[in-house]
Amino acid sequence: MLTKSMLFRKKIVLIRCGRVFKQIRFYTCNNYFVTTPIFYVNAEPHIGHLYTAVLADSVARWHELKGGNVIFTTGTDEHGLKIQQAAEKFGLSPEQHCTNISKKFRDLFSITDIKYTDFIRTTENRHKEVVSHFWQSLIKNDHIYKGVYEGWYSVADEAYLSENEVIEIDDKDGNKVKVAYDSKHPVVWTKEDNYMFKLSKFKDGLTEWLDQGVIHPQKFEVMVRQWVDDLEDLSVSRQRNRLTWGIPVPGDNTQTIYVWLDALVNYLTVSGYPNESHDWPPDCHVVGKDILRFHAIYWPAFLLAAGLPLPKRIQSHSHFLVDNTKMSKSRGNVIDPFERVDSYTADGLRYFLLKTGVPHADCSKY
Ligand code: ME8
Ligand code: MG
Repeated sequence: MLTKSMLFRKKIVLIRCGRVFKQIRFYTCNNYFVTTPIFYVNAEPHIGHLYTAVLADSVARWHELKGGNVIFTTGTDEHGLKIQQAAEKFGLSPEQHCTNISKKFRDLFSITDIKYTDFIRTTENRHKEVVSHFWQSLIKNDHIYKGVYEGWYSVADEAYLSENEVIEIDDKDGNKVKVAYDSKHPVVWTKEDNYMFKLSKFKDGLTEWLDQGVIHPQKFEVMVRQWVDDLEDLSVSRQRNRLTWGIPVPGDNTQTIYVWLDALVNYLTVSGYPNESHDWPPDCHVVGKDILRFHAIYWPAFLLAAGLPLPKRIQSHSHFLVDNTKMSKSRGNVIDPFERVDSYTADGLRYFLLKTGVPHADCSKY
């Protein structure tokens, strides 16, 4: 039988309170694995990305202070149509464009003291190998089939949307355009041969996981349960003639793996998967609420399909807004964190972000 002392170590830390030192005693877990999302390289980082990184960094530091062996990973998400189009706009090859922007994220994390233990780029070979391996395990377990996907696609969100997630609005020239209800990004009608993932089979597995209280803040759980009720199978590839910038489907060069499947698997790559002794599952994925569906539905469903344990906690947070709209690279309404570090120092900015950006509510104070 496992006892407390086999799982935890007793730790004593001295903390200074004015002129006296106080002893704090507690039990510590040996390993703690926390992640940030891997960020798209369509444009340079803004303070929203830094906020997520500072939040995850604080969690990592707390566990380190308690004597744990911390794995804290971050990185950049470099495939997909959104990045292919961004590189074209900059007049660069996708490789060069990705390298430039990925470096900006690293530079930002370096000057703001984000103490990650691994920074992954999805264009690295170690990652491509893991994605191919993971895909094959989904095929082996019979969770993928060939089908036709027909519906709306938002390039900025790299997301497929159902009819009731799309609304029509007037653009600035008065034309009617269809946009994603949540993000207000434009959508395009897509019809193509794709590989489909049997997402709808995982309703019970997801519900069981949600019952363990893994979604934080708890108010977001209601939304996640609603998505579980409405599950449909998910397209997990794009035709390669439309999207070349991505990992090919193993054994089928006419299809590229869906960028979200590719991106989510980064957490396995950094864990050392598929080695027997890989560090799994993560203790905490820190994510913005914009990508909660991907982390609280698609990701656990993919893991269930591959027969792997699920993350212990999804720590979601709300958004920094500008003029009541989410600050976003795609929209360009951003606040430059490099400038703010110059004005307020790294510690000053970190303090501001943690004090102002509460996870459960959006924030528009600067
Ligand atoms: O979604 N306020 O990358 P992304 C607070 N590549 N946080 C914000 C924010 C804002 N206004 N804007 C962005 C992607 N963020 C995918 C992730 S993970 C396997 C793949 C933060 O560059 C927040 O954490 O669009 C949000 O979830 C993330 O950046 C999205 O970054
Ligand atoms: Mg985004």
